[in-house]
Amino acid sequence: MQESWIMYEMDNLLNVFLVVGARPNFMKMAPLYFELKRNKVFNPVVVHTGQHYDYEMSQAFFEDLDLPKPHYFLGVGSGTHAQQTAKIMIEFEKVLLKEKPDLVVVFGDVNSTLACSITAKKLLIPVAHIEAGLRSFDNTMPEEINRKVTDAVSNLLFTPSKDGNKNLIKEGVNHRKVYFVGNIMIDSLTTILKKIDKSYEDKILQKFDLQRKSYTLITLHRPSNVDNKGSLEKILDFLNSLSQNIPVIFPIHPRTKKNIDEFGIKFVFNREFNIVESLRYKEFITLERNAKFVLTDSGGVQEETTYLNIPCLTLRPNTERPITIIEGTNQLVTLEDLEGKVKLILSENWKVGRVPELWDGKTAERVVKKILRY
Ligand code: UD1
Repeated sequence: MQESWIMYEMDNLLNVFLVVGARPNFMKMAPLYFELKRNKVFNPVVVHTGQHYDYEMSQAFFEDLDLPKPHYFLGVGSGTHAQQTAKIMIEFEKVLLKEKPDLVVVFGDVNSTLACSITAKKLLIPVAHIEAGLRSFDNTMPEEINRKVTDAVSNLLFTPSKDGNKNLIKEGVNHRKVYFVGNIMIDSLTTILKKIDKSYEDKILQKFDLQRKSYTLITLHRPSNVDNKGSLEKILDFLNSLSQNIPVIFPIHPRTKKNIDEFGIKFVFNREFNIVESLRYKEFITLERNAKFVLTDSGGVQEETTYLNIPCLTLRPNTERPITIIEGTNQLVTLEDLEGKVKLILSENWKVGRVPELWDGKTAERVVKKILRY
């Protein structure tokens, strides 16, 4: 455990510990950090478990989101689920025993979310879960287990959409603990969009040799897609042939990259199939906003494309974010029907979505009001 050089005040303020670990947590935490800071009652303390540790997966996001260096960095790194979860719990418990915060806030559905909610709860520290109530109803996804356990122990459950409230009530959660506050990731998205002007867009499109609305952006990292050699090979083969019709840009996740190397997958990639390192937040949003369509298995990307009204194909059998399908631009696809769906998009036959309720950039304000009342 490493304590950073940043000093924080502990006197007379409510100490709220914000726990993050993996890339999608950072943009959910940033708006809440700034909103708590603005409100003079709170002292927000950032704890980074170190689940993601590469510069591009972690520090670059802190920089793009204008976040300070974490107050605590637990440095747990990678491992099996049990190893990673256990290491986080051991290190986080030490911090909690020393600091005794008033509230621990966890985000999303990663292993850090699960580990820290349980650890805090067992020390009788109240827990708030941001992005509560989402369910894929697929227990083979590690994230589904993380969501269910975290929601079961949390004192405050903040949902991004009303389906979240329904799921929680059905599971027997007391409705007084559940608050529909909207999607906090959209707070970060609206903030970064203000910082992306035309000249920055031109620069990024030029950097990757792309033209507005005439390329596709890919993100794939789910174990179900990339942890199996056969499925990963099929996906890459599809993308390679897709790039003959439309340029493909594929910022590669460390898990996917590692698997391509370990499986010894060798491809002669077309010139228009561009695999690049993980992108910074600002770069990624720029490419997402200007893409013809996006193919993904990420949760956050389904939401961002809905907000940006960009067609999104999700290569998964289910989603914990059904609102992106019902109201947004998202659709689930299999490898078999991908080609047909791509044709529909390229011939301009895709649905136009709408922005879901309370995805308005003001979710952090609503969360802080509820925390104050609590
Ligand atoms: C994790 C989350 C997933 C989320 C994703 C976003 C869990 C169970 N999964 O998946 O829900 O969508 O983050 O990115 O919490 N690695 C690096 N550098 C890093 C981080 C990881 O090289 O900075 C490599 C390691 O070899 C590691 C592998 O990627 O074994 C996977 O990392 P891990 O944190 O276990 O899960 P993700 O697949 O990133």
